[in-house]
Amino acid sequence: MSDVLRLGIAGLGTVGVGVIRIIQNQAERLEMRTGKKIVVTAVSARSKAKDRGVDLSSYAWEDDPVELAKRDDVDLFVELMGGSEGAAKEAIEAAIATGKDVVTANKALLAIHGQAIAEAAEDAGICVRYEAAVAGGIPVIKSLLEGLAGNAISRVMGVMNGTCNYILTRMESAGLPYDVVFEEANQLGYLEADPNLDVGGIDAGHKLAILAAIAFGTQVDFDNVELEGIGSITIDDIHQAADMGYKIKLLGVAQMTGRGLEQRMSPCLVPDTSPLGQLQGGTNMVVLEGDSVGQIVLRGAGAGEGPTASAVMGDVCDLARGVRIATFGQPARTLRKAASARAAVSAPYYLRLQLQDKPGALAKVARALGDNGVSIDRMRQYGQQDLTALVLIVTHKTTQTALDQALEACMETGVVSGTPLALRIESV
Ligand code: NAP
Ligand code: HSE
Repeated sequence: MSDVLRLGIAGLGTVGVGVIRIIQNQAERLEMRTGKKIVVTAVSARSKAKDRGVDLSSYAWEDDPVELAKRDDVDLFVELMGGSEGAAKEAIEAAIATGKDVVTANKALLAIHGQAIAEAAEDAGICVRYEAAVAGGIPVIKSLLEGLAGNAISRVMGVMNGTCNYILTRMESAGLPYDVVFEEANQLGYLEADPNLDVGGIDAGHKLAILAAIAFGTQVDFDNVELEGIGSITIDDIHQAADMGYKIKLLGVAQMTGRGLEQRMSPCLVPDTSPLGQLQGGTNMVVLEGDSVGQIVLRGAGAGEGPTASAVMGDVCDLARGVRIATFGQPARTLRKAASARAAVSAPYYLRLQLQDKPGALAKVARALGDNGVSIDRMRQYGQQDLTALVLIVTHKTTQTALDQALEACMETGVVSGTPLALRIESV
């Protein structure tokens, strides 16, 4: 076996440059730890002329990442361009076809094409590693694939989009409305080019789908992640949830139920004293629950040059050491196609309703809930100047289906203005 591992890196943006910096600054340490000299042979990006703040002069340049992936002097192809289609997908396919292991940070690609990639890699005897794709610097993939391999995982949960957690915690700490904080996040460069990937829950949904595949031995199934973004959360919701002892988080939950795999990425209430409730700013947190280990909590930076490059290099070092694991932890064709279960597990809910402030309105809503089997645990009413009353209700445990029916019945009473908000209260 050669004592040199030759990398081809496609993508020299935030993450790619971070990886180059680590390889250049930590060369000796990496060699000591892996027994291999880790070198970059060739790189690719869109613009050759761009100054990227790192010395690229000793690396060959390829305009086309697919050609980079095919080079004979590359052992390991590192894909850091992003996007679920186009160059990233084609280059990874080319790397697999020409017998190169792959390291990628591309959650969108894996969430959508993960099964096909895993099968192609397995057929070619190739390893595909992707620690950086989920929760940036937190080694959650490695934890599931290796450290927790002896457990039956019962639930995977987490805050996996730093931008949303920044927006929600900043709204609370500064008392600012969503639109203002969204614009702040934009100015700070936190938002993806398409902000809906962040605030619509899509980016975090991609990450959850990847974790669920490893945790439950199922095929990645992003299409069946129930997605709801944070755009409807108001500063009042945040304050009122806080009054009742909760924080609002964009929370991903995946669990195997009797009816199938439940995958949800939606704003939820969590107890404010819980580790998830305490999570501030752009930090990520993943909670894993296994039959033997119990609950473990992983917390750290979910994005940024250093943390994400750190995760990429963890994968590179594993491959340099000869650690070879199936893409999702077991042979690709043994991954089951799970039936999708929509919110099968019952939970308490937080409801926000705007009622006409007139006699009997509250009674009509209480009846609509009760008639559909939804029981009220706690309730508060805030009188307002516009002859409406803001009513906040915490229900006892109920199913999503019963709640949807109850809310429909509430709307039929004619006393509800606007659209009610329903947020699940997650036990953590
Ligand atoms: P980025 O800063 O936008 O960089 C993307 C790089 O890819 C750029 O160098 C760009 O070239 C190059 N590129 C794009 N399309 C290309 C093409 N068709 N051919 C050749 N090169 C192309 O992105 P990033 O933030 O580093 O993210 C890279 C990957 O890491 C993505 O999959 C992302 O989801 C994932 N990720 C990022 C973070 C983070 O904190 N940034 C965290 C976790 C995961 P030019 O520079 O010439 O335009
Ligand atoms: N947009 C992502 C986030 C970047 O805010 O967490 C890392 O995947």
